[in-house]
Amino acid sequence: MSHEDFPTDEPAVVTCGLPYANGDLHIGHLRGYIGADAFSRALETLGQETAYVCGSDMHGTPVAVNAEQQGVDPEDFALDWHEQYKETFPQFNVEFDNYGHTHDETNVETTQEIVRTLDDEGYIYEKEIQVAYDPDADQYLPDRYVEGTCPYCGAKARGDECDEGCQRHLEPGEVEDPTSTITGNPAEYRERTHKFFEVSEFSEFLTEFLDGLEGTSNARNQPRQWIEDGLQDWCITRDMDWGIDYPDDDAGGEDDLVLYVWVDAPIEYISSSKQYSERVGKDAFDWEQVWKGDGEIMHVIGRDIIQHHAIFWPAMLEGAGYNKPRGIAATGFITINGKGLSTSRNRAIWAKEYLEEGFHPDLLRYYLTTTGGLQQDVDFSWDAFQETVNGELVGTIGNFWYRSLLFAYRNYEGTPDTDVSEEVRKRIQDAIGDVRANVNDYSMRGVGGAATELAQFGNEYIQRNEPWKLDAESEEATQVIRDCVQIAKAVAVLLEPITPDKAQALWAQIGEDGDIADAHLEDALEAPPRDFDEPGELFEKIEDDRVDELTEKLEERVAAASDDDDAETESDESTDTEADGMSDTDDLEPLADERIGFEDFQELDVRVGRIESAEGIEDADDLARLEVDIGFETRQIVAGIKQLHDLEELPGEKCVLLANMEKAELFGVESNGMILAAGEEADLLTTHGDAAVGEKIK
Ligand code: MF3
Ligand code: ZN
Repeated sequence: MSHEDFPTDEPAVVTCGLPYANGDLHIGHLRGYIGADAFSRALETLGQETAYVCGSDMHGTPVAVNAEQQGVDPEDFALDWHEQYKETFPQFNVEFDNYGHTHDETNVETTQEIVRTLDDEGYIYEKEIQVAYDPDADQYLPDRYVEGTCPYCGAKARGDECDEGCQRHLEPGEVEDPTSTITGNPAEYRERTHKFFEVSEFSEFLTEFLDGLEGTSNARNQPRQWIEDGLQDWCITRDMDWGIDYPDDDAGGEDDLVLYVWVDAPIEYISSSKQYSERVGKDAFDWEQVWKGDGEIMHVIGRDIIQHHAIFWPAMLEGAGYNKPRGIAATGFITINGKGLSTSRNRAIWAKEYLEEGFHPDLLRYYLTTTGGLQQDVDFSWDAFQETVNGELVGTIGNFWYRSLLFAYRNYEGTPDTDVSEEVRKRIQDAIGDVRANVNDYSMRGVGGAATELAQFGNEYIQRNEPWKLDAESEEATQVIRDCVQIAKAVAVLLEPITPDKAQALWAQIGEDGDIADAHLEDALEAPPRDFDEPGELFEKIEDDRVDELTEKLEERVAAASDDDDAETESDESTDTEADGMSDTDDLEPLADERIGFEDFQELDVRVGRIESAEGIEDADDLARLEVDIGFETRQIVAGIKQLHDLEELPGEKCVLLANMEKAELFGVESNGMILAAGEEADLLTTHGDAAVGEKIK
């Protein structure tokens, strides 16, 4: 990888975490695939050579358990889902350059070759371990065949992941109080020999790797903590039939060890790139340049699989002599009423269902990429969806597109004959710069924002210049409409990564032929063709009745899912533990997207204080002047609490304040610090134990 800004001279691969081939896709899945698709399209508009590859994750207990429940062979079961996914993704304009699966020949070969290399390099050893076993089922219990308690956080956990708690990967034998998910019996332990990959040898390498890693901050910070806590070696084999055989030539015949699914799954990123190269030819795309040379590798994943991508995977790549990822973007979850989506409980909006409701895929693409930053959890509601569609897509973008093109068509039968004004050229250039910066920041929300703001500018521009009041022949009117047609084209180019179909439709409306997906950002400044036909409206409002109906349907479903929650304890997908504790987040300010380092936090000198006196400031409705003892000195602080607190009650109360807040003067009174408070009623923060006045909060 290079560390130059995109576009670089090297080819790039964008991937998205492989879906387990075990059930219907829902909007939680789509957020990732759409986000990564938009990212890869956006990189292309910058001129970056990019391949977007993925595949179905066919192995492991997530597939085996579900296949078994339906009494079918895991291979048939997984292939069936694989075929369905291959059909579903393009329906959302998610266009992979290659979509393979982990059980295909390419991946079996590549996986065995990589494992063999790791073995040859001395990174793999054998160890006897205790593995869970169900005597009634007469079966070993890897991963999802066993459930218990997470030894790290105490949450209910699966055999290999703390899916409802701290999200850690768990090694065989780690889960406490294990019970079999087949019979519900407490699991027994039996001794078995397994293969281990020496992840612990890579601590130093990984620390350095994380320092250079781009993407979301959670993909760096959590792994740093895990490294600090000490990395364990990783058991990479399982007692199962379904999977890729361990490439051990002299293994005894009776052993049926397969590789742990998390070994062969990410290798599909390589295999899928290989298949793409084979299809289009090495001249068009060279997978080796990416995976064995200096190409750029970017992974988009859910935040529950950070450990696999930021620890195990780069260690494997390093050990086997491959190139490493440049960036990992880990997204938050989609929730409904604050709860994680659940396939088994039918708490979801299904991909197929969304389309059956008759909504255009680009609406969901826009909603999912622009609502909340990548790391944020997004609580889906039809209301919020409607608000985004009606407000931004219909109100801002669609409205601007339609009114400017219609005006241009009626008065000039296309693009007026003049050049774009300097002001508008400059505004479009700024928007292009904005998109470029946001792509380099892995922010698809920022890309959408830049496009929507440009359309908003267009609306203001047309409003401010009122061309309808001018003579169409006049230079002034010609200029305004010429500018608007250019802005309309630019919005389409900028928006293509997010709403490819709608952008293409606009492209055709202004008489451009060819594929807007092939356009680069600079094309936003190229003049559109002279003539075009009468435009049509590209977005349609979603009516309130429709939303009511959909909301009712969803609520019924969620209520049924909650009944299930009480009735059964079995869980599947990652639920969002933070959101679970919240009743209603609608009124809360969204959580900050950007993480800050501890050093940044330390810059805040937050102290315990005691209020000595409090009095209202004359003429100021809300402000009070406080004297606050902070140990070293007494500070005069102005706070907006006059109406909200009984000032006479305050002296003697402890409080928490930011001591190194810049001084300010309010109504002629100097304020030397800031009292911390929460909520509409300015609930004052305080401490409840023995923290002394003047102590620093840390
Ligand atoms: N199938 C896994 C999941 O849904 C993701 C696999 S991502 C890969 O959690 F890196 F292993 F490919
Ligand atoms: Zn845990």
